[in-house]
Amino acid sequence: MSDGGRGEHVIAIDQGTTNTKAILVNSAGVVVAKASAPLKSSYPRPGWAEQSAEDIWASVQAVIADIVQRNSVAVAGLAIANQRETLVVWDAETAKPITPAILWQCRRTAKACEALIAEGRDPMVVEATGLSINALFPASKLAWVMENVPEAKPLAVQGRLRAGTVDSWLLYKLSNGREFATDHSNASRTQLFNTATLKWDESLCELFGVPGAALPEVRFSDSRFGEVAEGATALKAGVPILAMMGDSHAALYGHRVRAPGLVKATYGTGSSLMTLTPGRVLSKNGLSSTIAWSDGRGVAYALEGNITVSAQAASFAAEMLGLPDAQALSALAQTVPDAAGVTFVPALAGLGAPHWNDNVSGTISGMTLATTRAHIARATLDAIVLQVSDVFVAMEKDLGARLDGLLADGGASSNDFLMQLQADVLDRPVTRSGQAEVGAIGVAMMALLSLHGDTPSLDETRSEFQPRTDAAAWRTEATRGWQSLLARLIAN
Ligand code: G3P
Repeated sequence: MSDGGRGEHVIAIDQGTTNTKAILVNSAGVVVAKASAPLKSSYPRPGWAEQSAEDIWASVQAVIADIVQRNSVAVAGLAIANQRETLVVWDAETAKPITPAILWQCRRTAKACEALIAEGRDPMVVEATGLSINALFPASKLAWVMENVPEAKPLAVQGRLRAGTVDSWLLYKLSNGREFATDHSNASRTQLFNTATLKWDESLCELFGVPGAALPEVRFSDSRFGEVAEGATALKAGVPILAMMGDSHAALYGHRVRAPGLVKATYGTGSSLMTLTPGRVLSKNGLSSTIAWSDGRGVAYALEGNITVSAQAASFAAEMLGLPDAQALSALAQTVPDAAGVTFVPALAGLGAPHWNDNVSGTISGMTLATTRAHIARATLDAIVLQVSDVFVAMEKDLGARLDGLLADGGASSNDFLMQLQADVLDRPVTRSGQAEVGAIGVAMMALLSLHGDTPSLDETRSEFQPRTDAAAWRTEATRGWQSLLARLIAN
């Protein structure tokens, strides 16, 4: 396939929680090779979640080596999309982590966060960062490291402590310690970065008891972050790192959203929805305010809503119903016209955006003697799209404007029936990306833009799902049942 005659390729890394992927993209935006390496997590105590930062780095080296060995092309640059909110802390002198990476999922600081909220600190933190105090974010994780890892304080005193998200750790390793930097999108998810002043916030560092001097320099997402050092990877020394973004942000970019109006939804274990906003909007409806990315056009702000259990509800229900998998559940769901009054709230790990309630648990209601397994299967698919709809509506409320439609990606988005239900419940078109790796594509597009000054027109076949005209009655009924069950559960 033509690469526009420029002959240069970029490697985009998508460093995720369960695996690290890499794609090789030519200058016409065509993915010409892919590689993947699995990654283990450990759960040493209830609620804790960790990963070896050395393993994360080794997985990146492995996917780069795989691509380089199988493709003899000139690599003009690297781009990185990464799991967000995971904290890596290391010693600058040895480049060794002083503790396992604390995963975004880790809840070890939940009590400490509750205490800060009880002290009335949340409004000030939200005002500065757009994020409600939560154990998800690196701020409380770094506070835990300072208190519990013996080397942390002495290293901070000696100016050797480095604390950052996965992007900054990878950049450090790629450049053999020359660069210690992050981008605005990753910084905005730490709960230590002031998204109005675009600086690390001293009062937040003080509140959490963390040393601001240990944090990376924050740069534009399309910066030339540094160069790959000799021997760091299978790449030749000097290959520039041209773009870095959090994975969810990179997916929004990969959907080619550049102005407010559309929402991207990733259907994975959970769901992440993100939409660009005209400036910095602090949510009044249960969403977080974040920086989407920063580039030559400035800083782009966004609203984000994270649903804790999304497609995972389908595999959970499949197991409960004795079905082999989520595909079988979907097939069974399609044998009935609707859920016949059954509603399933899949709050299997509490309720995420926009309701945020850890006390609600998974609940099925509305069953009668006429209820069959097919109705429960259908109620499960309904729940996935109704949760997404709740976040979509919260975004519209915060923006005071109608949103035009939804852009879908992630594993479960391959289910046509689910996508049709999503369009029906939103009464808006749903467009599914033809790209399996939207996040990696997004950050690759940004790198290609900084390399060539233009973005390739990606060769992508998208699928469109229009709301059905006869879906209005179902929409009203399903939404009414869903809202009334949610209200009862939240009130208890
Ligand atoms: O916010 C956490 C998210 O970035 C993790 O992404 O792809 O590892 O599930 P992923």
